[in-house]
Amino acid sequence: MRILGIESSCDETGIAIYDDEQGLLAHQLYSQVKVHADYGGVVPELASRDHVRKTIPLIEGAFAQAGCGPEDLDGIAYTAGPGLVGALLVGTSIGRSLAFGWGIPAVAVHHMEGHLLAPMLEDDKPDFPFVALLVSGGHTMMVKVSGIGEYEVLGESVDDAAGEAFDKTAKLLGLDYPGGPMLAKMATQGQAGRFTFPKPMTDRPGLDFSFSGLKTAAANTIRNEGDDEQTKADIAHAFQTAVVETLAIKCKRALKETGIKSLVIAGGVSANTELRQKLERMMLGMKGRVYYPRTEFCTDNGAMIAYAGMQRLKAGQHAPLDMKTKPRWPLDSLEKV
Ligand SMILES: Nc1ncnc2c1ncn2[C@@H]1O[C@H](COP(=O)(O)OP(=O)(O)OP(=O)(O)O)[C@@H](O)[C@H]1O
Ligand SMILES: [Mg+2]
Repeated sequence: MRILGIESSCDETGIAIYDDEQGLLAHQLYSQVKVHADYGGVVPELASRDHVRKTIPLIEGAFAQAGCGPEDLDGIAYTAGPGLVGALLVGTSIGRSLAFGWGIPAVAVHHMEGHLLAPMLEDDKPDFPFVALLVSGGHTMMVKVSGIGEYEVLGESVDDAAGEAFDKTAKLLGLDYPGGPMLAKMATQGQAGRFTFPKPMTDRPGLDFSFSGLKTAAANTIRNEGDDEQTKADIAHAFQTAVVETLAIKCKRALKETGIKSLVIAGGVSANTELRQKLERMMLGMKGRVYYPRTEFCTDNGAMIAYAGMQRLKAGQHAPLDMKTKPRWPLDSLEKV
């Protein structure tokens, strides 16, 4: 079976073609970063307009890359939520309409399920059950994954997402949007131990997260001391260390509570080298394994939507003919496959 995946929930247009026997056949991505950089964050209306411009040409590009056409597809998967409503509407209307026109089923995919299953696109993939740490621009969640669609949210951020905290702190350090990766780069020049930031919500039980206090601590330090490049790098280092250690403590806690030995990290922040190394070391000590997607599939992409859609298509789950987006959509409300 072969499926076309369309991702348009935020500021990336991602298109992919996935075959359940041959794997990923095409993957096209257009990032709107330049469009939003001047504004320091995503402007929803500009995002929607850019998705309108890019989606069809990228679908054509994906067919060319895969060497196939609409007649070879068994379905179309599109991100129906969560995300920006206008942006979601573009992918939803194009995906749903093409599926209707081509006489094939459509599948409405949950964006975070896409992130969560992205490591399944790799050859070395985890078996169920596993614990997943989803760390992206809009979400920070700890999820017990017993199977596809069997998601128990063990904890989530009560305020800022980890990626959002990275981006806001990066902005305060004078870095361009989205600053997460640049803050990580700056941190490599930083000196360990000069500054120490709190590890929020680690001194009490539970698996929820909070990052806004940490961001404020970093903001105060930047204001009081951060006028030279070395100090900024030292602050970036301390901030990244606090986030990474906080996430690692919560992962260890979730693994112990559930008795599970496999950890998955996904979402943009899972591209962070320090986080990967910290969790690799931790899992060695716990005689378990950590799995993550290749770097390009950590942030938004069409491949993860095509993969998640394929699992639901194979189970016969089809979207109705009406075009419904779900800007808010609880992950644990999904149907089991
Ligand atoms: N190496 C890195 N270190 C830290 N943060 C990073 C790194 N690479 C990417 N990020 C962060 O990941 C986020 C983008 O990830 P992603 O595309 O998964 O999020 P999103 O799609 O905007 O949010 P959501 O999936 O929650 O809707 C940004 O906040 C970005 O700064
Ligand atoms: Mg995302």
